[in-house]
Amino acid sequence: MSKTLVVGANRGIGLELARRYAARGDEVIATCRASSGELDSLAVEVVRGVEVTTDAGVAALRAALGDRVLDVAVVVSGILRGDDLEHLDLDRVREQLEVNAIGPLRVARALVAHLGKGSKLAFLTSRMGSIADNSSGGYYAYRMSKAALNMAGASLAIDLRGRGVAVALVHPGFVRTEMTGGNGNVDPLEAAAEIVERIDALTLASSGQFVHANGERLPW
Ligand SMILES: NC(=O)c1ccc[n+]([C@@H]2O[C@H](COP(=O)([O-])OP(=O)(O)OC[C@H]3O[C@@H](n4cnc5c(N)ncnc54)[C@H](OP(=O)(O)O)[C@@H]3O)[C@@H](O)[C@H]2O)c1
Repeated sequence: MSKTLVVGANRGIGLELARRYAARGDEVIATCRASSGELDSLAVEVVRGVEVTTDAGVAALRAALGDRVLDVAVVVSGILRGDDLEHLDLDRVREQLEVNAIGPLRVARALVAHLGKGSKLAFLTSRMGSIADNSSGGYYAYRMSKAALNMAGASLAIDLRGRGVAVALVHPGFVRTEMTGGNGNVDPLEAAAEIVERIDALTLASSGQFVHANGERLPW
């Protein structure tokens, strides 16, 4: 049975990933800061108190993992806050960097001991972190944080290759969740199905790529 970790699983895309992996019979470890009725209703192991911006929050994850080696780890947690250039609130910029870039790297640092030959580590990033694709400007902090996450993932792919661990940076599409105020082209259920396909297809040969959940390669 595959051991699968989903970080940020109480709602949105993470919840649907946990549901999908559980439905196919994986042993799912689903983390959250605080659980939800929907997450509690799934046949998964729920780990509470996993705040990615603190060492204590990620230590709670490590404690729950014990000596388990994961087949798949997906880091989903993220925030999006709008910003206005003339009244840019740098505390909000820092907050997004903490949650979207430094947080996933903190999680990755903790997971190294729980990944081995054949393990897969995926991050939910955004095409808004693509410099080449930025034609509309704005969203300084979110774009910066996802570009930084992409760079972390690119280095992780290089550094973990020797251990046989493959890394993916997956843009989920424009998904109807709380983050988008319910706007989007796809439901979390459909996005989760595509993300699982991408992670299933991930190998060392494709490690380090920045991809859309629909399979399209995205430019950095
Ligand atoms: N929806 C889209 O169209 C879209 C597009 C591109 C990329 N993405 C990316 O996909 C991922 C999932 O997005 P979503 O749409 O499912 O968002 P969402 O519904 O807002 O869910 C965000 C998740 O992140 C968790 N989270 C936020 N801050 C956290 C922290 N400090 N520590 C631990 N967990 C934290 C939330 O937990 P709480 O409930 O505790 O806040 C929640 O589980 C994000 O990384 C997002 O940037 C989404």
